[in-house]
Amino acid sequence: MYLPRVSKAPHVREVAATAEGWLDLCPADVAPGELRAFDIDGRAILIALARGRLAAIDDQCNHSGCLLSSGWIDEQRAAVICPCHEISFELATGKNLTIPRLCDDQPTFPLKIEAGRVFIRLDGDPR
Ligand code: FES
Repeated sequence: MYLPRVSKAPHVREVAATAEGWLDLCPADVAPGELRAFDIDGRAILIALARGRLAAIDDQCNHSGCLLSSGWIDEQRAAVICPCHEISFELATGKNLTIPRLCDDQPTFPLKIEAGRVFIRLDGDPR
């Protein structure tokens, strides 16, 4: 388990979008255990790396609204732990790994890395 390195959510008011709808979010330099938060037009997004895989997940916990970016990474389960009631969500799928009947799975978003940059999609149905 890593201790969190919480970054303040930068307000991303304008992000470059490709013709295919991918948003150019940030450099692909996310460190293991880092919780990098963004506010894109009022939507809280968290990107994090666990077990070598970078993922994008809704930063606002669907249980009671706390920000997952204030929590920490469980590297063994490739999950982010909410700081408020310690429910863990698998980063790649958003699956609630702790008490599935207590709250829903967390929305996740398609993510890709190209030319050293992180691109995500917010349109369409989250995974
Ligand atoms: S607000 Fe996230 S677990 Fe309760």
